[in-house]
Amino acid sequence: MEEIILVESSRDNISGEVSLSGAKNAVLVIMASLLLVKGKSTLKNVPDSADVEQMIKLLTSLGVIVFFNKTINTLQIDATNLESYSVDHVTMRKMRASVLVMGPLLARLGRINLTYPGGCVIGARPIDYHIKNFKRMGVAIHEEDGLLTATTSGLKAQRLILEYPSVGATENLLMAATLAQGVTQIVNAAIEPEVLDLIAALKQMGAKIDIISPATIVITGVDQLNPIIHTVMNDRLEAGTLLLAAAVTGGEIVIRNMSSDHLDVFLFKLEEMGHIVKTYDDIIAFKATKYPRAVSFKTAPFPGFPTDLQAPMMVAQCLAEGTSVIEESVYENRLVHALELQKMGAQIKLESSTRAIITGVNELYGADVIATDIRASAALVIAGLAAQGTTQISGVNHFRRGYDGFDGKLRQLGAKVNIIQINSANLVVNKKRPEDII
Ligand code: EPZ
Repeated sequence: MEEIILVESSRDNISGEVSLSGAKNAVLVIMASLLLVKGKSTLKNVPDSADVEQMIKLLTSLGVIVFFNKTINTLQIDATNLESYSVDHVTMRKMRASVLVMGPLLARLGRINLTYPGGCVIGARPIDYHIKNFKRMGVAIHEEDGLLTATTSGLKAQRLILEYPSVGATENLLMAATLAQGVTQIVNAAIEPEVLDLIAALKQMGAKIDIISPATIVITGVDQLNPIIHTVMNDRLEAGTLLLAAAVTGGEIVIRNMSSDHLDVFLFKLEEMGHIVKTYDDIIAFKATKYPRAVSFKTAPFPGFPTDLQAPMMVAQCLAEGTSVIEESVYENRLVHALELQKMGAQIKLESSTRAIITGVNELYGADVIATDIRASAALVIAGLAAQGTTQISGVNHFRRGYDGFDGKLRQLGAKVNIIQINSANLVVNKKRPEDII
């Protein structure tokens, strides 16, 4: 048996209001940051997703006590008895965010054994920015047969330079610096809302952190951090994808508790397409236009257009009037979902692995398609909502990794989408299947 996502055409059906879950890309790193703390902390608004479960497994393997009360989306984490510092290669490959325990373990225990997180379909995803800056902080890193052993007799505060505003490298170095004696600066740091939520949690623990313009994070090391109660920020990527589900089906929805300044460029592009977007405080009210205009965009680090909304936004361009140019600047191969959209009738020309030219069409048609990463899975779901007929999406593991009941949220808005079990023999095997690495 295999799980698939079954999507029926849902045009003119999507309307109403829906609440968001906590942000995957905030909660995973905040969970890792609690390795810095002795004592029991509580995280609220934690999404019940496969990646959260994977991070719980990883923390537990290190000797951390974790209890997840799924009915109230609350996690309790107590790293008092943290004892292990080894992360096996299966764990590292299953979830790239596993690398985010590196900074806390170096700060708390002075060592970590790990392997490279490995790449995925969207890119090689190396960790060289992490490694070279940890070395500057006095970490000795030995590599043998792909196994990395990192040790330090005490992290040194430094002026660290990021040649690219890497989210993970910023987060790893930031967490390590909170317990390093002296003042550490991270120049050209990532300032995504999820990074700022981590900083808010660390400051609640007692860390001394400032951000100076344009994007330098200054950390003054302290001797100890203390347990917290923290509510994880809502997921701006889930919010953006819900808005796009309404955009491609002529829908009208309201999203509460989402700060529009987390999505400024994205919302600007929706308005440029002709959609009506009204924002007040933490409310986004959206009404789709019946005649969307195609827009072009290029992904970039925050506050630019979020790479994690590129795939679902491509779907909206497939059904808009005119031609759109999409440039993916964050990853070297994050347009693979275009191949699946082409099977649904989309007119997409891939000029390279980072540049696509989309010519809008009137209709997409249901097909058997394959999701190859978290955001591609959501994009194919919303393509199925807009398409005529039925769409079967395999690769449900990606969908479950990145979202907490996203299908249920869509159903609440009127969408016809369900995750079902089918006999694998009934699955149309796609010959052009890109290597599907978990
Ligand atoms: C985080 O990944 C997110 N994941 C990603 O979301 C998101 O796409 C990405 O930031 C960019 O916003 C989590 O927070 C768990 P990066 P991260 O380091 O930290 C290259 C999703 O779908 N790079 O900013 O891995 C890298 O290969 C996921 O939710 C190096 O070359 O992103 C990539 O091309 C996907 N060397 C670019 O930088 C390094 O040492 C951005 O990576 C580190 C990164």
